[in-house]
Amino acid sequence: MKPVILDVDTGLDDACALLLAARHPELDLKAVTCAGGNVGLDDVVRNTLTVLDAAGRPDVPVARGAAVPLLQPVRMARHVHGADGLGDIDWPRSTRTTDRRHAVELLRDVLREAAATGELITLIPLAPLTNIALLLRTYPDAAAGLREIVFMGGAARIGNATASAEFNIWTDPEAAAIVLTAAGELGVPTTMYGLDVFYDVVVTLEQARGLSGSPSAELARKLIEKRSSLYQSDGASIGDGGAVCAVIDPSGLTTQPFPVRIELSGSWSRGRTIVDTRDWSADLTSDPHGLSPTKVQVATAVDGKRYAELWLATVS
Ligand code: BDR
Ligand code: CA
Repeated sequence: MKPVILDVDTGLDDACALLLAARHPELDLKAVTCAGGNVGLDDVVRNTLTVLDAAGRPDVPVARGAAVPLLQPVRMARHVHGADGLGDIDWPRSTRTTDRRHAVELLRDVLREAAATGELITLIPLAPLTNIALLLRTYPDAAAGLREIVFMGGAARIGNATASAEFNIWTDPEAAAIVLTAAGELGVPTTMYGLDVFYDVVVTLEQARGLSGSPSAELARKLIEKRSSLYQSDGASIGDGGAVCAVIDPSGLTTQPFPVRIELSGSWSRGRTIVDTRDWSADLTSDPHGLSPTKVQVATAVDGKRYAELWLATVS
């Protein structure tokens, strides 16, 4: 089994990711940490516990993390995820409590243990990268417990929160810059599952209507129905869930190693992931910036049908 930790801002599509990670037989979900993002931290935590209850995984420790970005004011996406972040669907909310540790401490402890046992962990951040930046700067030794980071965020070509920037990176650009820099310095292999592939793993309403017979399947159906109605479409992307698919089945994702930087200023481009797709063997001496020292495996294509089937088979 592959040990994983999810860092989430649950969120309808984080919920799709949690159901998959909690139920897939080849994943060992060690912990889930929460950050403010799509909605406020209290809603994120309650939604996360609710989804894990539905998945039949009350054993997975869940910790509260950063409520707000490192520097800029909080921004949310209730217009995409509903007032409560879980689409305001009719579903019993969890009454379970969280781990007593802060998210950064839970991450530190689980990763140090992984480093000690050699069972290295794949970290899957699906939220603004605030918790992960704090972790890597406060406890850099914990990175020894990481096999890799596969994060949802950014894009080579498009934005969603703005014309330039993707929501998770735009919400906390400083954190994203810290994480990419620290991952480069600490030698942690990093994959960016960005908007270039995010929308391509689609579950149709017809497929979703076949989901029944367990709380997990029922919740999964409601999530797809809600996302479909929000987008006025006859199906919906599982969003963050695709990043978990990429960890389970990496050969369904095409990636290329590119130097990546985060835009921290810019009138119109703050929060953009600047993916350097140039021919680096050419003469770059006139470029005052040079190459970013951090190379990231950037997702450029995905087998959406295969990942959608993987998700459907697992959540039901
Ligand atoms: C990302 O932002 C959030 O709204 C989603 O949960 C996803 O992680 C997409 O830009
Ligand atoms: Ca998310």
